[in-house]
Formats: sequence, structure tokens, C-alpha cells
Amino acid sequence: MKIDVVILAAGQGSRMRSNKPKVLHAISGKPMLQHVVDATKSLGGVAVHIVVGHGADQVKASLGDNCHYIEQQEQLGTAHAVLQVLPSLSAGSKTLILYGDVPLIKTETLQAMLEAVDDSSMAVLTATLDDATGYGRIVRSEDGDVLSIVEHKDASPEQLAINEINTGIMCIPQKCLEQWLPNIGNDNAQQEYYLPDVIAMAVSDSVAINAPNPASLFEIQGVNNRQQLAELEREFQREQANRLMVEGATLADPARVDVRGDVKVGQDVFIDINAVLQGEVEIGANVSIGPNCVITNATIADGTTILANSVIEDAVIGKNCNIGPFARLRPGANLGSGSKVGNFVEIKNAQLGDGSKVNHLSYVGDAEIGTDTNIGAGTITCNYDGANKFKTIMGDNVFVGSNSTLVAPVEIADGGFVAAGSTVTQAVPADNLAVGRGRQRNIAGWKKPVKKKS
Ligand code: UD1
Ligand code: CA
Repeated sequence: MKIDVVILAAGQGSRMRSNKPKVLHAISGKPMLQHVVDATKSLGGVAVHIVVGHGADQVKASLGDNCHYIEQQEQLGTAHAVLQVLPSLSAGSKTLILYGDVPLIKTETLQAMLEAVDDSSMAVLTATLDDATGYGRIVRSEDGDVLSIVEHKDASPEQLAINEINTGIMCIPQKCLEQWLPNIGNDNAQQEYYLPDVIAMAVSDSVAINAPNPASLFEIQGVNNRQQLAELEREFQREQANRLMVEGATLADPARVDVRGDVKVGQDVFIDINAVLQGEVEIGANVSIGPNCVITNATIADGTTILANSVIEDAVIGKNCNIGPFARLRPGANLGSGSKVGNFVEIKNAQLGDGSKVNHLSYVGDAEIGTDTNIGAGTITCNYDGANKFKTIMGDNVFVGSNSTLVAPVEIADGGFVAAGSTVTQAVPADNLAVGRGRQRNIAGWKKPVKKKS
């Protein structure tokens, strides 16, 4: 059977107190609705239909053209929402119904839901909670068969005592939806069209009802306010931290590492507290990451040490490098193996050859630097004239003395040596010493200024 996924995302989410539609609020930097869509990706070849309403344009702009959007003008209830999609479902499909504000549902659970459904059966995902307040309750027969779902506001005192709840997630054959949805009324406490009313219809049509459970309760938790958003963020981060540990990383404190993207680690990695790892990050074996590092879209090869408070973005770092503390690697930084970038050094769009060092207080931008070159403290590549950027090229075994300014475009050939305090404006040939500063004069018998008497 084909699979259609319907994600309900039309609600306003007024308790978020936000101009942004609720489903676009992020967990680990990614909109909740995107988490749900991503969970369906590995089900293979599913059509994803999103029911949008409040903030529809923002939702569409965020999720893009890979999904099909259906506008629900007025939010008249969950059955009414699914009814809007009915004409778009493929005949004979299984329809999986999900929620844009229930972001941490797992692919494995969705798989179990799909496996529980065929032509003559449907599935509702249920859970047993200590406190079922607010949820629809699962009413079962004495034999344990699911009979109906009754909403909290419509429940009798005996029904309120039931603690098996409707998570809202269902999987229903399209041909059943076609029969049932138009017959659901709104004669209930909230005057809404309730999707859970399909359960009683399934019973009377002898469609079997399966009721699997999720592996963890956070999978079915919804977000209505920012506290709940924060709780699920922590759940998500706990899982990421566990995964990193399983893959071979020691975390100084699993509660103080945040993963916002796709992070891979090798064996014997050490990650100190307050690391933020974002985008695509690949960390090799035996890498050590100091406290308070922010690493975004980077590859860090085996054996490299990143010291505290370093900020790294769109960079490639070779093996056995030493970075930081307080280093800033900006987009296009590409560091050869065994290289060093020390404190208060900024590197942008620059290649540093194997074994080269920029140890202190420097800016290296738009540069190509060979191997075993040493750039002294306070060196600045002047790469920008206010309109255009220019390149600084250095060969192997170059030595740049402290506090030099290299006015690009400029080239220093292999073995070139720049005297400290130089302003280099011309090419330095191989093995030459460049001295680009005023000669020192000493003035004997100089008198110190004295204060005037008032
Ligand atoms: C629903 C279920 C309840 C279940 C609970 C689990 C119904 C009637 N009740 O209750 O049995 O225990 O979920 O959380 O389904 N939405 C739309 N369009 C609408 C109505 C809702 O897109 O017209 C979306 C909302 O944005 C929300 C979701 O569907 O994301 C659930 O709707 P809501 O009205 O919050 O249902 P609950 O009262 O939570
Ligand atoms: Ca809800």
C-alpha cells in the first residue's frame, strides 16, 4: 500500500506568545515541523501533506517545495483538518496522521504504526500516563478491545479515571477515511469535529484497531508553550549526548553539550563543558575540545586539540593541530596537519600549510601559506582596501616577525624573513630579509618635558 503522511499544523499556538507560528519554533535549531517531516523521510517514498492555517506563508517558506500544503481556513477540529486533505490522498493508501507540534516522534514508531495497518485494520498510538488530564481517553471492552476515544471534556468520571490516552497519532486506510470523515459531527463539548470519533466507526465497520505504544513518552509529547519546548530540547539533547558517548566520546558533562545538526565523532574524543556543535561537524579520533567552544560545519582530523573558547565555522582542520584558546576560524580556514593557531588569532579564507604556526594576536585573511612557516605575534594581512580583497601568498619556511603588516596583494617566497614591525608592500624573494620600517635613531641628552607651573 502507498503511504500518505498528513501533518496537522494549522493551529495558532497562542500560548507560545509569538509572532512565529508554533510549529516553526525550533528544537536543536530546527523547526519542530521539520523534525516531523524528517522522521518520515526514511519511511521511503511517502507523500507529505501539511495542513496549514495560522502563519501559512511562513510555514511554507520555511519548509519549502518538497511538501504539499493544504490550507485549512478555520480550525474546526482535527477531523475537519484531515478532511481538507482527503481529495489529495492516493486511492488505497495508508494515511499516517501526525502533528507539527509533536516533534520528537521516531521513525521506528512510525514504522510500527504502518506495520499495524492493512486493508481491514487501522492503528492508534496510545500511551499510559500517570496524569492523563486533557487527553482523549482510550475506552476498552472487558476483553481489552479498543471501543472508542472520549475527549477529556466529554468524559464521565469513570472515563476520566482511565490513564491510557490517545496520542493523536493514527494510521488509517484511505478508503476508511473516505467513508468516515464526512460522517463525523461536532455535537460535543467543544463543538469540534473530532478525529478520534473514527474509532467508534471502525468498531461498527469491523475494522480491527491496533494500538501500539511509543518506546519513550517524549516521542508523543506536544508543545504548547515555551517551557514544554525547553523540556523537549533537553530530551533531544540527552539523546544526542548518549549517541556521542556510544560512538566513543567522553563528555565532561552530558548535560552541557548541545548538538544542533549532524555530528560525527571518532573514538576517544573528549568534549569539555558548554560545547555547541552545529551543522555538519566531523570530529576525528583522539580529538580534544576544550570548554566553551562553538563549532559549526567543520571537519577536525585525528589528534587535534581545540582549547577553550574557540569559535570555528566552515573550517577544515588537519591532524594533530593545536587551536586556541580564544581562536576564531572563519569560513574557508583550512589548516594543514600539525599546524598551530593560538590565542586571539582570526583566520579567514586562508590555507595554512603543515606545521605552520600563527600563535598570537593575528589576522590572516585571504592567504595561502606554505609549510613550517611561522607568523609572529600581531601580524596582520591587510587584505581589503575598502572595495576589493587581495591575497597574501607565503611559501615554506617563511618567518614573519612580530607586529608586521602585509599589504596584499603581496608574496613572500620560501625562506623569506620579515623583520619585526615591518610594513611589507613588495614581494620578498626567497631567503631574503625584508626590513620595512624606519631605522632607529637614539638622541642623546634628551630632556623630559616638565609640567608648567600654574
Ligand atoms: C487531540 C485529541 C486527543 C489527544 C490529544 C493528544 C482530538 C479531538 N483530540 O486533542 O484525543 O489526546 O490530541 O495531544 O483530536 N489542528 C489543526 N486544525 C484543527 C484542529 C487542530 O491543524 O482544526 C492541529 C493543532 O494545531 C494541533 C493538533 O491538530 O497541533 C491537535 O489539536 P488540538 O485541538 O490541540 O487537540 P487536543 O485538544 O490536543
Ligand atoms: Ca493539543
